[in-house]
This record gives sequence, C-alpha cells and structure tokens, in this order.
Amino acid sequence: MKYNALIWLAVVIFTACEKKNMPKQEQLPVLSPQARHIRYQVPTGAVIAHRGTTYWAPEETEAAYRWARNMGADYLELDLQMTRDSVLVAVHDNDLRRTTNIAEVFPERATDPVSAFTLVELRRLDAGSWFNQAHPEQARPLFADEKILTLEDVSMIALGYRIRRAEDRPVPRMNGEEWTGHYGYVKDTADIGHRPGLYIETKTSGFEELLTRQLKGMGWYVGDNPRFVEVRPGNTGVANTAGRLVLQSFSRKSLVRLDSLLPAAPKCLLLWRPDMRDSLETTWHESVVFAVANNIEFIGPSIAGPPNNYGELTAPWMADLVHNSGLYIHAYTFDTPAQMQRYKDRIEGMFTNRADLSLQVYGRPAADARQVLIELGY
Ligand code: G3P
Ligand code: CA
Repeated sequence: MKYNALIWLAVVIFTACEKKNMPKQEQLPVLSPQARHIRYQVPTGAVIAHRGTTYWAPEETEAAYRWARNMGADYLELDLQMTRDSVLVAVHDNDLRRTTNIAEVFPERATDPVSAFTLVELRRLDAGSWFNQAHPEQARPLFADEKILTLEDVSMIALGYRIRRAEDRPVPRMNGEEWTGHYGYVKDTADIGHRPGLYIETKTSGFEELLTRQLKGMGWYVGDNPRFVEVRPGNTGVANTAGRLVLQSFSRKSLVRLDSLLPAAPKCLLLWRPDMRDSLETTWHESVVFAVANNIEFIGPSIAGPPNNYGELTAPWMADLVHNSGLYIHAYTFDTPAQMQRYKDRIEGMFTNRADLSLQVYGRPAADARQVLIELGY
C-alpha cells in the first residue's frame, strides 16, 4: 500500500513538472495553408518502413526493402550518404563497421567514413552476414552477401523491380569495359503490386542538388512531371500520389536547401534528445517556429521505452504543441506492440522496424511476415 502511494506521488510530481515545462501555445506560429495542403498528401497512419526493417532482414538491403514493399508499407525509409565518386547510397552509420565486413575487405580503412569509398569499393562489401551472426533467430542463408544499395536501387525496388542476378550474384551494368558499381534490374517475379513511396533522410548537408536531379530524373518529385505508377486496387499506392516522396533530416541546413530545391515535397524535421542543449520547453518552441518558417510539415521526434530507450520527445504536451501549430508527427522508432499502442493516437505515422505489427495496430491487412520472406525466396 505504502509502495502504491509512493508511485502515485511520483506520477503527480512528474505530471506537474511536465505541465510546468509547457510553452505558451499562443506564442507559436501556425503552418501556412499551402504547407497544410502538402501535409495532406501524406497518408495519416503512415507505416514508414525504417531502413526497410532492422528486425526481419539486414537493414537497408534489397532483402529488407523487398520485404517492406511486399508487406504493404506506405514508405521505404532510407538514410542517404554520398560516396567519394558522388553516388548516393543507403547507409545509416557514419562508417561501415557495424553493418558490413569492412574490417576483412579494407582493414586499414575500416574506420573511414562512407564518403571515403567509391561505389565499386562499397559493392565489394558483404552487408548481410553480420545480421545472420547478430540475429541467429532471423538468419537466412541468402542474406549473406547482400549489397549496399544506391538510391536508384531502392527506387527500383519500390517500383516492383529487383537487382538482376546470375547464379545468385548481382549483375554489373557495364559502361563500355568499365564497371561503375551499378547493377541492372529485372521485374521482381515475387512482386505482388504494392507501390510504396520513398521517405528519404539526408544524413548530412551537401548533396541536395545531386539528390534533386536524381529524384526528378526518376519521376519521384511530384512538382516536376512525376512518373505514372500503376497500382492494383486494394494495394498500397503511395508511389502514385502527390505524397510519394517525403524528405527528412536532423540537419536544418539540409532541410532549408531541400525546401528551395523541392518545394512541393513534404518535409520532416527530426529531433534527437542529445542534440538539445536548451530546455525541452525552449527547444520545442524553437523547433516549431523553425518548421513553420521553412515549410516543414512534419516533426520526427523519438519515442521512449525499450528496446531503444531513446529520450521521450513524444509526450502528450509535446504532441499537442505540434498539432496546435498545424504540424503532424512521424515518430521514431517503433519495435513493439506496446510502443505502438501507447503512441498511435497522438501521432500521424510511425518509423517502424516491424511494418507487419504497425499495419495490424492500424487495423490494416498484414500478411505473415515470415511467409512474406519465404515468398520472396529467402
Ligand atoms: O529517420 C527517422 C529515424 O530513422 C531517425 O533515426 O538514426 O534511425 O536514422 P535514425
Ligand atoms: Ca533514418
């Protein structure tokens, strides 16, 4: 009984402290009608397949993105960095130690950043075997030697293609005698017709012009002659809507540049507790002001709880603050049903490692995740 009273007291004190931190809403600006129009293009209850998945397959590989596409996720999420020869590739970490065999292939350069390697060098790496070792319960032989992907590769997977293979090895696309690191594509025979959008994170600022050229060239930018994408009735069809492409970053500099280059694309400002030097109140106030001033329609805060135990940036008062300014919330990163149930009613989308569970939580059809892998040939 005494113990219960102590818990109750702690909750009261915690709630009071949270309320004390609340900024005054009337001081905050609201999103412009034009930006609201762009915000509406993105589906509410968005299932954003974080790195494809980190649970069922090695992150940001063909296996992860084919799985997320066939699950019916609304978006394939990817982290972009630029190689030494100016190719945009999907890699999360600054270096390649966690997710590849870099220590075996380039031992002297193992701690070098992704930007120190050419695409041909990166394609020599095995981006799948680490997953089989780290997650034996989800391991599959065909994950071994999965490749680091380019933006073009992820785009083609979203559109129902896969990398061309001969005897289970990707087939180079030759430029005369020389291989530049690019692969060819074929229609994916395991494709079942879902057409997700792309949710692209710029990990750094500095390649926004290149990204813009590529997105326009591939028809992803809705403001500039977008590609028509055929969608079967009943399937995910975000790739054929005006919300087909969302741009996200922790880098404000990058978002400002992207707003000037791709103004019709929805954008998301990511927030991370360790980056916040000021009080939560000040930071939230200032983040909303920045987003509204720069036509950013979404805030991407972290959520609390296991397994990641990130800082709580999606508390009810924070969600109210964002919504009252006309912005929506795409929170990261979801791994468990408990997290999904706790936050789903105060956000408009989830960056999720378990698109299978997120679809279920939103009451949408969800195939069996393992069966999807089997049907994809893994
Ligand atoms: O992009 C949303 C979320 O992915 C941000 O965190 O570090 O997983 O890219 P991170
Ligand atoms: Ca990301």
